[in-house]
Amino acid sequence: MSTCKTLLIVYHSMTGGTRQMAEAAHAGAQAEGGVTVRLLQAAQAGPQDVLSADGYLFASPENLAAISGQLKDFFDRSYYPALDRINGRPYAAMVCAGSDGHNAARQIARIATGWRLRPVAEPLIVCTHAQTPEAILAPKQIAVAQQAACHALGEAMAAGLALGVF
Ligand SMILES: Cc1cc2nc3c(=O)[nH]c(=O)nc-3n(C[C@H](O)[C@H](O)[C@H](O)COP(=O)(O)O)c2cc1C
Repeated sequence: MSTCKTLLIVYHSMTGGTRQMAEAAHAGAQAEGGVTVRLLQAAQAGPQDVLSADGYLFASPENLAAISGQLKDFFDRSYYPALDRINGRPYAAMVCAGSDGHNAARQIARIATGWRLRPVAEPLIVCTHAQTPEAILAPKQIAVAQQAACHALGEAMAAGLALGVF
């Protein structure tokens, strides 16, 4: 008899882009079914949430060529309590960026490597093309096609966990 697996989605968002990506992935995972899906803001998430999940989706804006401070704070609070207790679990990353996003994705990958997590998808980077201070500070609307990609990633994570293929 198999127990229901849990997918934990942790995100931070300042102007709404990453939140929409995380919500789309959450909807996809729920639509797939077969797993418990938890969507938590980084400030509300901690080591117990990490330990009690079976797979992870980490979602961050790229701010100053880095993951956002709140996602970093989540990792800082959770890293050592979870170290060596989550080895081999699957994860994927989503980044919402103005024009780049790769450094944030690399940072998440380094932290996940330290945790000995297993990447099960390429980082999903969405660029909002915000360049000016006004555009960067404005609320974001993630395009339907990009939300669909996040939805599909959530579905795939849920399916892999439910089927035990990860
Ligand atoms: C302080 C700050 C720094 C930023 N630095 C970068 C950056 O280094 N690279 C990039 O591609 N976008 C950068 N951006 C743009 C954000 O990644 C973009 O606005 C994204 O939509 C933010 O996600 P959010 O809507 O979830 O907050 C920066 C935005 C802010 C506010």
